[in-house]
Parts: sequence; structure tokens; C-alpha cells
Amino acid sequence: MKDGKPLYVAFAMLAGLIFGSGATHVLAASSPAASLKNFSQVAGIIQEKCMACHTLNYELPFYAAIPGIRQIIEKDYNDGIRAINLDEEFGKSASGKPVSEPTLAKMEWVTANETMPPQKFTAVHWGSRVSAQERSAVLDWVKSSRAAHYATGTAAPDKADEPVQPLPDALPTDAKKVALGQKLFQDKRLSGDNAVACATCHPLDKAGMDGLRFAEGIGKQVGGVNAPTVFNAVFNVRQFWDGRAADLREQAGGPPFNPIEMGSKDWEEIIGKLSGDEALTAEFKAVYPEGYTGANIEDAVAEYEKTLITPDNRFDQWLKGKNNAISQTEAAGYERFKAYRCASCHVGKSLGGRSFEYMDLKKDYFADRASSLDSDAGLGGFTKKESELHKFKVPNLRNIELTAPYLHDGTHTTLDKTVETMGIYLAGMEIPQQHRELIVAFLRTLTGTYQGRQFEGRVTPQ
Ligand code: HEC
Ligand code: HEC
Ligand code: HEC
Repeated sequence: MKDGKPLYVAFAMLAGLIFGSGATHVLAASSPAASLKNFSQVAGIIQEKCMACHTLNYELPFYAAIPGIRQIIEKDYNDGIRAINLDEEFGKSASGKPVSEPTLAKMEWVTANETMPPQKFTAVHWGSRVSAQERSAVLDWVKSSRAAHYATGTAAPDKADEPVQPLPDALPTDAKKVALGQKLFQDKRLSGDNAVACATCHPLDKAGMDGLRFAEGIGKQVGGVNAPTVFNAVFNVRQFWDGRAADLREQAGGPPFNPIEMGSKDWEEIIGKLSGDEALTAEFKAVYPEGYTGANIEDAVAEYEKTLITPDNRFDQWLKGKNNAISQTEAAGYERFKAYRCASCHVGKSLGGRSFEYMDLKKDYFADRASSLDSDAGLGGFTKKESELHKFKVPNLRNIELTAPYLHDGTHTTLDKTVETMGIYLAGMEIPQQHRELIVAFLRTLTGTYQGRQFEGRVTPQ
């Protein structure tokens, strides 16, 4: 472990910044400034009570040299830094970026459930316990940060602080680009053999994914990773299971040249084919005066994908204040969903898509599965950082009853099995069957509407 000083200095500077700039002003509870003010208080608590196990920049305390203690502390430290790097997460706040929704949800969960610091640590290290007053400071900060940065403004007042928020009904888009993008999404000329379109693997009448374990591309070649749905992908922080595309535009430039997906050589090959289509070419030039380029095609497809959102499911209606939109069983399922920490990662408008998490966080999923796939590397395969191996983009759970099979490896065909697996490997809790049933009932409320009509896709057998 490296020198602890830089971190301390960063926190001291931050606190100085905030106290120095008018902490006496009365700030509206939901303003970003208010959440920053709360943050200075919370930063102090975290620095003192949490950082020992949650930053790379911390010196072990002197007693760590005592034989035996070192092992305990080192194990906690290694597990703790793997569970969350608070330095990294809170550094963002110091640089003016809001703390992410998953981090807020995780902080809320451990604070409300009083699981941090771990009991075996507080038992021997007096003074390390978090007081009731400190807990409420952390919870207040979570609440005001959410209100300032993530509230959609469409939830009913008593639901405004829920970790899950309603989807907007629509996003602003350029209608002409959308019309072009829609055509390109269906256009098989984007593939080398003119047989595969985006829609081949992401059929819109089947919830935006093909229902196969692994997608089938050009020449019936099969890949090694499950195709996620394109619906609501616009809400993802990055695209692909391993995050290798920054956004939808960058993503759209991938599949056409993937040798086992669409297998085109380069944009020139595709543009050559499209140029023969006079009507499309004229339409394209009317929107993009410079005509076809790779970047323009990506832009049109990405613009279209912004319309592939499925708002106003029954759960959204409940969040917006219609209390009878979901049954008591489904509401109890949502409570379980939060209690089993599902909402720590499946958070926000699309119940996921905001962070990358270890598939083997609490237990070695890959050893238990006893087979290996290239796609298992996840984020680490893309960033080449060993510490990020086995991290995957958290999938969004909207329309989840329609998008089996599940997980990057397409292993499970039922929601029940998937929820059981999540409990064991991600949440670290075995979920009894009656609770799984409640959670699945809740998940089934997440099927939304597309272009104003109830979203229909293949309903998966359970
Ligand atoms: C003695 C080391 C230690 C201290 C101190 C500590 N943690 Fe942890 N933390 C861990 C470990 C170990 C884990 C992994 C989960 C587990 O084993 O319970 C963890 C996990 C977490 C997680 C991820 C959620 C989870 O349960 O996996 C959060 C969030 C967290 N800690 C926040 C905090 C906060 C906030 C504090 C201070 C109030 C704190 N921790 C203090 C060791 C520590
Ligand atoms: C041969 C099947 C196939 C074709 C054709 C295909 N995709 Fe995909 N798509 C996939 C697979 C498989 C993944 C997941 C790959 C990964 O994460 O490594 C994916 C991922 C995506 C994602 C990321 C979603 C997320 O949640 O990360 C988007 C968006 C997407 N595709 C859009 C498109 C567009 C646009 C096209 C056409 C230009 C296209 N796809 C063509 C199979 C296909
Ligand atoms: C620590 C973060 C984390 C927690 C906690 C968590 N998940 Fe997940 N969830 C993920 C990740 C990451 C994946 C994708 C993993 C993969 O495919 O390898 C996933 C996948 C899923 C899927 C499959 C989605 C799809 O499209 O394939 C479902 C369903 C799901 N989770 C539900 C739950 C439920 C229910 C809980 C609570 C019991 C839960 N998750 C807890 C991170 C989490």
C-alpha cells in the first residue's frame, strides 16, 4: 500500500473548498450545492471509518504488524477494495462529477443495514463503529445526491427517493435522422453477404434480441456471448458487456466489420452498395450534405436507437403515483429486490447499465461453471487490467421477462434460476424460493410500452 497522504490532502482540500465557500448559506435540499455540502461531512466519516479497507492509498495501521492481525486485516482489505474503491468513487465528487447511482445505492444499503465496517473489525477496533448520527448523515447525503443528480422529476413525491426511477416517455431526437437510422437498422447491405442486418440479431418484434444463447451471424457463424436487447441501450454508461464502445455511435461501427457478425470489409464496401440506391442516397444527402461516411451512418443508427425505449410499464406507473398499478405481491417483490441488494447494481431508470460489476463478487462463478468462454474476461479483456477481469456491464432489467436466455454466457433460460444465481454470486445471499417468486413477480412488472402500445415480445416459459 502506498502513501496515505495524497488522499488525505485531497479530502482536506475538498472540505476547505466547501467550508470556505459559504457553508452558512441555506441551500435547497435538492440542489447540487446542498449535496456537496453534505458530502463534506460524509467525506470526513468515510476518511476516518471506511478508507482503511476501501482505498489503494492507505497505510495499514501500526497494529497490523502484529502477527495474525495482519492476515485478518489483509483479507478484509483485499475483499473490501474489490467490493468498492471508495477513493475512486468519491474522487469523482471532489472533481465536480456526481457520485454514481450504484455507489449511492451501495452506500445506502450498507449504511441502512449496518454491515460496515464488518462486525469482526468493529469488535476488535473500538471507535471504528458508525454512530446513529453518522448513519443519518450518510443516508441524508445519499438522498440529496439522488435528488440533485438522478431524480427524473416524474416520480410521485413519496417515490422520488427510490433507487429505481421511471423512464422518460421520449428523448429528444432529430426525426429525419431517426427515419434514416430505422432503415439502416433493417438494411442487410451492411453485411458482407447481404444476408444479415442489425435487426437479424436484434429483432424488434422479439424484444430486441434473438432469443438464442449465442447470436448467429454471417455464414451461420456463432459467437461466444449473448446478444443484449437494443431496447433502452441508450441509458447504458457504455455499450457491450465489456464496455468496449463508449456510446451508441461507436457501438454501431462494430458489428458491420465483425467477421462473425456482419463481415463487411470496410465502410467503402458498404457505401459502395448503398450508393447504388438512389432514393436512400437522396434521403441521406438531405440530412447529411457530405453524403455517406462511416461516422454519418453510425450517427443515424444511434439516433434511431434513442427511440427504442419502452416507458410506462406498470412499475413506472406505480412510481408515478398510481398505487394500484402493481399488486401487493409485486410490491413485496420490489421490497425483496431492495433487501437482497439487487438495487445496488440494478439501479436508476433502466435498472442497470450504470456500472461494471464482478460476476464472481461473492463466489467463484467461473470455477463453478467449469467451462470457459473468451467473453468471460469482461471489462478486463477490454481494458487489459487484471483487476477488471470478470467485470460485466450490469444489464438493464426492463422487459426482462422477454429477453431470455440470460447472462453474458446465456446460461439460464428462466428468471427463477437467474435470480438464484444473482443471490449466490453477486449479492452473497441464498434466496429462498418464496422470495425468488416475489422477486420474479416484481420483474414481470417491468415490461413496458413501445410507441404507445403494450410492448409485446416472446414471453419466455418459466
Ligand atoms: C476492516 C475493513 C473494512 C472497513 C473499515 C470498511 N469496510 Fe466496507 N467492505 C469490507 C469488506 C471485506 C467488504 C466486502 C463485503 C463483505 O465481506 O462483507 C466491504 C464491502 C463494502 C461495500 C460494498 C457492498 C458489499 O457489502 O459488498 C460498501 C458499499 C462498503 N463496504 C462501504 C463501507 C463503508 C461506507 C465503510 C465505512 C463506514 C466501510 N465500508 C468500512 C471491509 C471494510
Ligand atoms: C450477428 C448478430 C448481431 C448483429 C448482426 C448485430 N448485433 Fe448488436 N449485438 C450482438 C451481440 C452478440 C452483442 C453483445 C456483444 C458483446 O457485448 O460483446 C451485441 C450488442 C449490441 C449493443 C450493446 C447493447 C448493450 O447493452 O451493451 C447494441 C446497442 C447493438 N448490439 C446494436 C446493434 C446494431 C446497431 C447493429 C447493426 C449495425 C447490430 N447490433 C448488429 C449481436 C449482433
Ligand atoms: C454487485 C452487482 C449486482 C447485484 C447485487 C445483482 N446483480 Fe444482477 N447482474 C449483475 C451483473 C454484472 C449481471 C451480468 C452478469 C453476467 O452476465 O455475467 C447481472 C445479471 C442479472 C440478470 C440477467 C439479465 C440479462 O439480461 O441477462 C438478472 C435477471 C439479474 N441480474 C437480476 C438480479 C437480481 C434479482 C438481483 C438480486 C437478487 C441481482 N441481480 C443482484 C450485477 C448485479
